[in-house]
Amino acid sequence: MNLSEIMAIDEKYYMNTFGKRLPVAFDHGKGARLYTEEGEEYLDMFAGIAVTALGHCHEAFTAAVGEQVKKLLHTSSLYYIKNQALLAKRICDCSVADRVYFANSGAEANEGAMKLAKIYFYKQGLEKYEIITLNNSFHGRTLATVAATGQPKYQKPYKPLVPGIKHVDINDFEGLKAAVTDKTCAIMLEVIQGESGVHICTDEYLKKVRALCDEKNIILIFDEVQTGMGRTGEMFAYQTTPVEPDIFTLAKALGNGVPIGALCAKEFVAKGFEPGDHGGTFGGNPLATAAGMAVFDAFEKEHILENVREMGRYMEDKILALGSPEITEIRRRGLMLGIQFPEGRAAEVQKKLFENRVLVGCVGGHTLRVLPPLVITKADVDEFITKLEAAMA
Ligand SMILES: Cc1ncc(COP(=O)(O)O)c(C=O)c1O
Repeated sequence: MNLSEIMAIDEKYYMNTFGKRLPVAFDHGKGARLYTEEGEEYLDMFAGIAVTALGHCHEAFTAAVGEQVKKLLHTSSLYYIKNQALLAKRICDCSVADRVYFANSGAEANEGAMKLAKIYFYKQGLEKYEIITLNNSFHGRTLATVAATGQPKYQKPYKPLVPGIKHVDINDFEGLKAAVTDKTCAIMLEVIQGESGVHICTDEYLKKVRALCDEKNIILIFDEVQTGMGRTGEMFAYQTTPVEPDIFTLAKALGNGVPIGALCAKEFVAKGFEPGDHGGTFGGNPLATAAGMAVFDAFEKEHILENVREMGRYMEDKILALGSPEITEIRRRGLMLGIQFPEGRAAEVQKKLFENRVLVGCVGGHTLRVLPPLVITKADVDEFITKLEAAMA
């Protein structure tokens, strides 16, 4: 089936929530490469929005998931699931979490985090239910997470929104402090805001936020849906900062493309959830948790974090060496890059890159978003830089 045929059927039957898509449909992939049915090759510097950390068709990952597909897909959590228990342990072993609950997406993990913060206080008989998040944040598209997302464009059609959520500016501690009341149960933030163009919370700010949470009995939630699983060069982005969250959430790269989300919490707050308080049919099923286990295996065997640190630095140095006066700033942690251009130029560069078969993201026309697979090689980066230079010419 050719692209025009796919587009015609899609236009007639699929709900168009994504707007005009880029005119390509991929058939298969390998590493940082994607291929159309006709065999056209694209360099994937966006990893399906920070999902395919191991690249496409990673051999050991594909084998592990394939084995699980042949054995068992789903049983429900009415029964014990070996990999559900093992994956939860694995996340706890390398983080501040003591317990994990598996969901199916980032938004669902964040819903769970907000519910957990609320129920934790409810069970103590305390009237604390307000949640503070940041302007320009992105926490998902469910009704509660769209209310948490600090971007009016996503919220407008869904008013009245879930109540009790306030937004303040990133790195504005006084603004945050002023928004706190005795009803505040949680502050939820991305250590690095991804969707809005890679905006980073400063260490000083995070230290003050942590102290404020401790002083005022507020749960600190880090949304690591995008930054988690090695993207920043540490397993979790909070590990690049001087603070620890009480709850953090994961999704995206945790399943390398198999949908899974995780709500990870310290014991004191995890206790808020008791039997019957939360749940879902699919969460942490044998397939999704086998995928998560295979991702952890690959991280351990293939020194992926080292590659993220090395390739991240290498890419930034190469971009700087281009000496382009158009690039006004590079915001980067590991392999999460926001390249700032004058308004409108990033969109033009993205278009040119696409014509040259390179996939990147773009925010608002001014920020190029680069989120390659974490297994990217020097040769991949070199090709990207050559094509970026050509696209800017
Ligand atoms: C930081 C962050 N939180 C939550 C989400 C929502 O995740 P999902 O699309 O899996 O619901 C995203 C998605 O881009 C995200 O970047």
